[in-house]
Amino acid sequence: MLSLAVMGSGKGSNFQSILDAIREGRLEARVACVLSDVADAFILERARGAGVPAIHVDGAPFKTKLEGVAEDRVLRILRDHGADSIALAGFMRIVKPKLIGAFRHRMVNIHPSLLPAFPGLHAWKQALEYGARVAGCTVHFVDEGTDTGPIIVQRPVGVLDTDTPETLHARIQEQEHLAYPEALQLLSAGRLRVEGRRVVRV
Ligand code: GRF
Repeated sequence: MLSLAVMGSGKGSNFQSILDAIREGRLEARVACVLSDVADAFILERARGAGVPAIHVDGAPFKTKLEGVAEDRVLRILRDHGADSIALAGFMRIVKPKLIGAFRHRMVNIHPSLLPAFPGLHAWKQALEYGARVAGCTVHFVDEGTDTGPIIVQRPVGVLDTDTPETLHARIQEQEHLAYPEALQLLSAGRLRVEGRRVVRV
């Protein structure tokens, strides 16, 4: 059973899908705490509503990364809440080696593209502008690169001629909400073994 910390900066729909999967028995986990670098992020409100400890961590003085005092604070909070794994769910800061090393192959992220295509921001928009016919989402372990870690689960989403960035993102999110609990359950059940770049199921 995972003891999961969820970290996000936004609306937290993936966190909700994790909660739903736990409630429906599709995911053997408990959410130990939810952390956000954005004080009024809806993900914190969802956590409070679900009775999960919801904690704001000020990322200052940095704007785009989690390092220094804030990183140490996160590590302390995770320890105090007994978290043994981390799910990044729309966390908009780059995590750094200290946290990554402490949770090697225990920290996962969800990205709105079929990696290695379209890493970075607004991946669904990148796919649309590139003219890709298939977009999708990826759940992967977090390593020191940007969206480069070993891939656990991917789900494709066809691009329609009529798509706008908003409609495509909405369909990708539907698949994210299936992919994330599925990947976390594989982790929870001890079914993932990392062999170099590859994640094999045991
Ligand atoms: C998702 O699209 C995810 O792929 C990306 O950030 C978004 C988070 O959405 N990393 P939400 O806050 O879970 O609704």
